Amino acid sequence: MTNFLLNDRLVSTEESAGMTLLEFIRGVACLSGTKDACREGECGACTVLVGSRAADGTVAYKACASCLLPLGDIDGCHVVTVEGLGSEPLTLVQRLLVEHSASQCGFCTPGIVLSLTGFALASPDLSYDAAVDALDGNICRCTGYASIRNAARALCEALAGAAKHPGQRQEVLLATGVVPAYFRGIPGRLAELKAAPVAACGKNTIAVAGGTDLFVQKPEQLMGSDLCFLSKRRDLDYIREDKGLLLVGGAVAIEDFRNSAVVQRHFPALAGDLLLHSSAILRNKATLAGNIVNASPIGDATIILLALNASLTITGEGGRKREVPLDKFYLGYKKTDLACGELVSEIAIPLPSEGVRYNFEKVSNRTTLDIAAVNSALLLATGSDGAVTGLRVSAGGVGPVPMLLPGIEKFHGRKPDASFFQDLSKAALAAAAPIDDIRGSAEYKRLLLGQLMLAHARALAPVEAA
Ligand SMILES: Cc1cc2nc3c(=O)[nH]c(=O)nc-3n(C[C@H](O)[C@H](O)[C@H](O)COP(=O)(O)OP(=O)(O)OC[C@H]3O[C@@H](n4cnc5c(N)ncnc54)[C@H](O)[C@@H]3O)c2cc1C
Ligand code: FES
Ligand code: FES
Repeated sequence: MTNFLLNDRLVSTEESAGMTLLEFIRGVACLSGTKDACREGECGACTVLVGSRAADGTVAYKACASCLLPLGDIDGCHVVTVEGLGSEPLTLVQRLLVEHSASQCGFCTPGIVLSLTGFALASPDLSYDAAVDALDGNICRCTGYASIRNAARALCEALAGAAKHPGQRQEVLLATGVVPAYFRGIPGRLAELKAAPVAACGKNTIAVAGGTDLFVQKPEQLMGSDLCFLSKRRDLDYIREDKGLLLVGGAVAIEDFRNSAVVQRHFPALAGDLLLHSSAILRNKATLAGNIVNASPIGDATIILLALNASLTITGEGGRKREVPLDKFYLGYKKTDLACGELVSEIAIPLPSEGVRYNFEKVSNRTTLDIAAVNSALLLATGSDGAVTGLRVSAGGVGPVPMLLPGIEKFHGRKPDASFFQDLSKAALAAAAPIDDIRGSAEYKRLLLGQLMLAHARALAPVEAA
């Protein structure tokens, strides 16, 4: 039995925990405002808000693609569709979209309304740039993005000042008509909901984290499978610093990682780099651990974590733990050192010391919402004399597994100047073994990898590389 609030009403359903929320909303609850289009997380037409109760009793809302979200994942949550925002009167977001002529055929509009409402509920700084980022998964085929961005700008102006008083955010949003009055009672109603016990993960269950890989690949099979939902595992949802390591729980969503203050303090570049991963409505659910275990040779988070020298804590049945460096985790194409029933319970990333430089590059057909043709990350440490004391270079899309460039020791002791990066480029070309696929020919990807080494040079040492 799954219990949740759908807009203003309580839903208790015996439908399969693996049924997608989109299917439930349209097919069972008969609410047709949420649109059904790509079913692959690509278009944003199915965007809804999911509010989860935090430990302190407050409700945190995230905009999510309902086509990749299983019912079991929203047990105990508040789901908001466009019907739940009301039409008489229009909400502030809806009104601004009308005033700025930001809707023509209207197919994408419910998704855009939900993404902007989610932004108003959750964005720490309520900036215009953050509003545009919040829309990066919502595709509109006919209006043109300028008018949608104008509406987003007007929303930021209407909410100016609200970011300074995070404790009063909900009251401001109620007063300005961004959310309807019934939102006030949601925390209390969620507290009274009887949530299902958290299903244990084991040999006969499939672990669902964000579901953004699983529900694209095998949605039908998941309908009839025993699933365990890692988003319900509060013990796996943490980011903290300890003894020179950044420790990240195995259920942490990429967007939470990106926005975390401790991550931004130690790895300021990651906030921008991880914006290149999928889109906000997917990053709100997709996890770092899911990216690693999915074992795609071009996973963006995986390539970044490989360069950062991350290691994994793997927990098996009975709580047995073992540590595996990420660079030893991949055994072959889509083959990992993870036994049946084991979970990646923690990712540990060494904190960078003074003078360590890092860069990530990704080449894809579109800047956002696209998988890389080739990506690469580099971590470079230099001593007081400027010579290289440590170097890690990772690359995706150039072999069957995420690659860590071998034989890197020969670069130690050299100055990271233009000739250093030219030689690094040659070494990368020699190590790469890509194949032809829809993202490009093997030769194109090899050449691209060589160029990415030079792009690292430009990003890290603009003067020497010029
Ligand atoms: C439209 C679209 C765009 C995308 N764009 C990108 C992109 O730009 N870059 C990119 O890298 N990826 C992209 N992806 C792929 C996907 O979003 C990522 O790989 C994501 O990080 C997967 O995480 P998840 O939590 O959703 O994994 P899930 O789908 O929940 O799980 C993936 C696999 O990992 C297993 N798993 C998950 N967590 C654990 C754990 N803690 N322990 C053990 N096993 C676990 C699951 O059982 C499953 O086998 C995109 C996907 C879509 C649909
Ligand atoms: S239907 Fe396209 S993202 Fe869900
Ligand atoms: S208004 Fe037609 S797709 Fe956006």
